Amino acid sequence: AITRTFSIIKPDATRRNLTGAVTKMLEEAGLRVVASKRIQMSREQAEGFYGVHKERPFFNDLVTFMTSGPVVVQVLEGEDAVKRNRDIMGATNPENAEPGTIRKELAESIEANSVHGSDSEENAKIEIDFFFKPEEIVG
Ligand code: CMP
Repeated sequence: AITRTFSIIKPDATRRNLTGAVTKMLEEAGLRVVASKRIQMSREQAEGFYGVHKERPFFNDLVTFMTSGPVVVQVLEGEDAVKRNRDIMGATNPENAEPGTIRKELAESIEANSVHGSDSEENAKIEIDFFFKPEEIVG
């Protein structure tokens, strides 16, 4: 089925001027950008978005990193969008990611791993609603 997922192009990628390179890989994987905006996340926003990781040892560094520069938040649409996006992103740690994936080709480290993508359709809905109003998404 045609579904949606949520994506973030992270500060390490925007800093290196890779917004287009990342988006091209997403599009070539069969995903369509149906909403996109470049934002500076506030600390409150990043803490809210990553709330499920609050107890993890890397939480504070993650929030600091995600607020260290602009990010591009996107809604992606396509056949089985959550899985398709996870496949093209590659493993969380770029060292473990397959060749040809965004993280293997572009990411710097497990923290500065260039992209976020929703891990389930349920979370995709929650994450899309966190950043976008319905009228900002044009399919
Ligand atoms: P993301 O998909 O955005 O979700 C949580 C993020 O935490 C993850 O990608 C990584 O960038 C980041 N992170 C930093 N350190 C770790 C770690 N040790 N294990 C997992 N995720 C980490």
